[in-house]
Amino acid sequence: MDITKLCDRHTSVVGLQWGDEGKGKIVDILSEHFDLAVRWNGGSNAGHSVHVGDQKYAFHLIPSAILRPQCVSVLANGVVIDPVQLIREIDALQQRGIAIENNLKISSQAHVVMPYHSRQDKLAEEKLGDKKIGTTARGIGPCYADKASRHFAVRMADLIEPDRLQNRLSHIVPEKNAIFGALFGSEPMAWQAILDEYIPLGQRLKPFVCNTTALLHRSMAGAKKVLFEGANATLLDLDHGTFPFVTSSNCGTGVCVGTGVPPQAIGRVLGVVKAYSSRVGGGPFPTEQENAIGEKIRQRGREFGTTTGRPRRCGWLDLVAVRYAASVTGATGLCIMLLDVLSTFDEIKVCVKYATPDGASDEFPADAVELSRAKPIYHSLPGWRHDLGSARHAAALPDEAKAYIGYIEEFVGVPVQMVSVGPGRDETLVLV
Ligand code: GDP
Ligand code: IMO
Ligand code: MG
Repeated sequence: MDITKLCDRHTSVVGLQWGDEGKGKIVDILSEHFDLAVRWNGGSNAGHSVHVGDQKYAFHLIPSAILRPQCVSVLANGVVIDPVQLIREIDALQQRGIAIENNLKISSQAHVVMPYHSRQDKLAEEKLGDKKIGTTARGIGPCYADKASRHFAVRMADLIEPDRLQNRLSHIVPEKNAIFGALFGSEPMAWQAILDEYIPLGQRLKPFVCNTTALLHRSMAGAKKVLFEGANATLLDLDHGTFPFVTSSNCGTGVCVGTGVPPQAIGRVLGVVKAYSSRVGGGPFPTEQENAIGEKIRQRGREFGTTTGRPRRCGWLDLVAVRYAASVTGATGLCIMLLDVLSTFDEIKVCVKYATPDGASDEFPADAVELSRAKPIYHSLPGWRHDLGSARHAAALPDEAKAYIGYIEEFVGVPVQMVSVGPGRDETLVLV
């Protein structure tokens, strides 16, 4: 019942499904008790919602901890930063009276999402037609691809120094023009125009840019507590997700790579799980309900994307997938979110095995073709028809809801430490 018991060591918050599990809400709550909060992967493909009273915030790049004045928000090296989006987010927060100047830090090593990245993302998806991934079109994949291939990369350190930026763009843009012209027949871009637009953006962000790896190590040595905010989620992890219907970062497993913090520093991993499943974009989803059940979940859960507004695909909880995600992330505790959304069902199903061409399996295949052949085998639990919104203690939950949580805990083998029954800060039960 005491949230501070979950805040006594460096903690990583990570999604265990296909995103939108409610990571933003958990980070907002926990960050009251942390000194730093760090985004370490992805970019403005993420959409993290936070509700405080009647105020709603949607964060894409800035950590969901920015509402806590005592907590320094960090965009670490693993994040890919679209400066236009970031400045838009900073401006919107400042207009709402949120202080940014002293508590936002940006890694000089973070890669920059340039306009040709979002252009490439859109053009490539259009070309793929019905084979497309269904990306957020924010340029995430092309930016990470340029990071890996190195020759076309722009980092924050380049963005904030006009000479370095000119040096990069005068070389990169003509190469991109040649590739885009050949692949998509698109009009060439002028590097000088991009330079003229991006120099001022770099200058605006310059005061926030620093060596965040050194900052994190200094802070940890000085007994400051650090909260790590995962974006996207484990089943979208580039290596461990449902490839190729994934994003382009190691969003379940890459916290050390994305920050420069060693694994043993992280004392707790909170896996955030919806009480059901949702997915945006393409890719296999064994427990999807393309029927009245899915529609009911979508309406009750307001399952429309925070970033793109797309309706999210909805279905029953897939415990085979969640157990797998908990194992690859090393989850030490679970946060079960949106439990209130299930309050109208007489029967609730959870997937406990897959029927595959090779027989029943309880292994999650990190491969889209294999997963598309898996048919869910369900276990049914009795539903509850009580409104959960006013519950503040586990004891106040209906017995059926307690049994549902107990079943998840036992199946996954990880204790449930938080339960969420509404979007607000206070609509949260702490079980430790
Ligand atoms: P994130 O990307 O993991 O941060 O999640 P999103 O913010 O994209 O999506 C989660 C949505 O569920 C947001 O609109 C939250 O405000 C909302 N939410 C979070 N927890 C609860 C809950 O327990 N019940 C309900 N009804 N909504 C919730
Ligand atoms: P948060 O942090 C849900 C999905 C996209 C698409 C795939 C690849 O809010 O949980 P990308 O633009 O990253 O190349 O798209 O990944 N996706 C998300 N889905 N929540 C997210 O983030 C997502 N980030 C990426 O819909 O299917
Ligand atoms: Mg989201």
